[in-house]
Amino acid sequence: MTPPLILGLESSCDDSAAALLRGTQILSSVVRGQNALHAQFGGVVPEIAARAHAETLDVCVEAALAEAGVTLEAVDAIAVTAGPGLIGGVLSGVMLAKGLATGLGVPLVGVNHLAGHALTPRLTEDLPFPYLMLLVSGGHCQFLIVRGPQDFARLGGTIDDAPGEAFDKTARLLGLSQPGGPSVEDAARDGDPDRFRFPRPLLDRPGCDLSFSGLKTALLRQRDALISEQGGLKRQDRADLCAGFQAAVRDVLVEKTARAIDLYLADAPAAPALAIAGGVAANGVLRGALTGLCTARGLRFCAPPLKLCTDNAAMIAYAGGALLEAGLHHDMTLSARPRWPL
Ligand code: KG4
Ligand code: ZN
Repeated sequence: MTPPLILGLESSCDDSAAALLRGTQILSSVVRGQNALHAQFGGVVPEIAARAHAETLDVCVEAALAEAGVTLEAVDAIAVTAGPGLIGGVLSGVMLAKGLATGLGVPLVGVNHLAGHALTPRLTEDLPFPYLMLLVSGGHCQFLIVRGPQDFARLGGTIDDAPGEAFDKTARLLGLSQPGGPSVEDAARDGDPDRFRFPRPLLDRPGCDLSFSGLKTALLRQRDALISEQGGLKRQDRADLCAGFQAAVRDVLVEKTARAIDLYLADAPAAPALAIAGGVAANGVLRGALTGLCTARGLRFCAPPLKLCTDNAAMIAYAGGALLEAGLHHDMTLSARPRWPL
């Protein structure tokens, strides 16, 4: 039997996205980011994001239909991010999804954005449950054992900032461009990671929780010390600060991942695997370190293509498809949830 054609919608942060999926085949995946709109404010402004989603999501749907070469009438179900996220944006998506589902007379399913990220590796790889997931983005950082499409065990996560947020703040403090992850990684290439020693927060405490806000403060202090000593920052200072910061993030994530692996292996998985998702999964230094850790511990390492690691609607369509297959769908009472732990 041909799998249903699912239209996915995503609007929980600063990317408006629509995608068409049949089974694991991505017919189209359109993402319209809002970086230019928020750049002058130094962060995502919820009200501006919500307006932009309301204006752009339907355009994304049209583009996704055109790219896939299908008509709206061919769509069999609508999957939409119903949280967690910035409420105005999530509402835009949920309202559009309700309208489309009603107009077309097809099922509607609300998807948890985090479940979308967590299930993404299965969209491109044959990855059996249970696997360990490290979700690292601009808004999230957590370890999950993914036991099934609706069965997640959270092992720990950040108690303050997400790593992507720390990369973005670092870039801002050093006058580098946004988003900060790629520009900090780039600057760090010429840097000495040992010139400045940044803290590795929470390593002295048991468990898998993480903290990144102290790291940001340490970087700010070091930057200010250099400025008052030298009257400004040299190119090499920026490179060394970036390299030191990135090494600290890597060390903390790798050590906590090692602890999460211990907990995960207690599940006695037949084919142990660590998967990574979220924008920070793009970081080459982190990927390299996690690959080494997995090799040492006998785990397979899965990193989805970058386009699927960052926010997109194909992952929402895929997670929605899994819910529909399990017989779950929502009616018009589906509500947008700013907070929605897995
Ligand atoms: O998953 P994502 O697109 O959006 C959400 O936060 O949900 O992640 C964006 C985050 C940004 O904070 C960005 O700076 C970070 O991912 N990022 C990176 C890299 N590329 C993107 N962080 C570190 N290294 C990178 N190469
Ligand atoms: Zn995300």
